[in-house]
Amino acid sequence: MKKFEEIKFKIGVLKGISAKNIEEHLKLYAGYVKNSNLIVEKIGEYAIDAEKNAYVMGELQRRFGFEFNGMRNHEYYFKSLEGGAKPLPKNSKLKIEMEKQVPFEKWLAGFKALAMTRGIGWAVLYYDKQTGQLIHTWVDEQHLGQLNGLNWILGIDMWEHAYVYDYPTSEKKKYVEAFFENLNWEVIEENFKKAN
Ligand SMILES: [Fe+2]
Repeated sequence: MKKFEEIKFKIGVLKGISAKNIEEHLKLYAGYVKNSNLIVEKIGEYAIDAEKNAYVMGELQRRFGFEFNGMRNHEYYFKSLEGGAKPLPKNSKLKIEMEKQVPFEKWLAGFKALAMTRGIGWAVLYYDKQTGQLIHTWVDEQHLGQLNGLNWILGIDMWEHAYVYDYPTSEKKKYVEAFFENLNWEVIEENFKKAN
């Protein structure tokens, strides 16, 4: 298997999310890349005597989805904060798709409410090619609840580490607002185009 490479993101000054929080968050992302590679490597080592190491291998395999999604989720997250805050482009295909269901502002309010789900995880917007529609849902941790075969459009990290340097946990709503203030919607529009 090819090694997973850590991406270097170019994130400028954000409003309401400090450089310190981003710096610490990027360290956690690097950990997911490192551990995705480590799991693959360790499974390879244990496979030399697969029968004897079956239990250890099984547990490592079980955790792979956590590390891999931890890596990939954060790549979408940090990419969406690159390039500074930008609105959806004119004639946005994503907006047109959203408005087949509800007006954009109502969609946004619903997604922000999803982000306030209790617990650690992600609010994620996907596109389901099979049914031709946008679907958003909550993903616990990094991996529990990811929707099979759907393409990721937008995700907000709702682990406390995403905002703890800037807001107490009781004020995570402010972080949700800050995330959307800094979001580069052009990246999200591109994600949507690729998802079709
Ligand atoms: Fe995170």
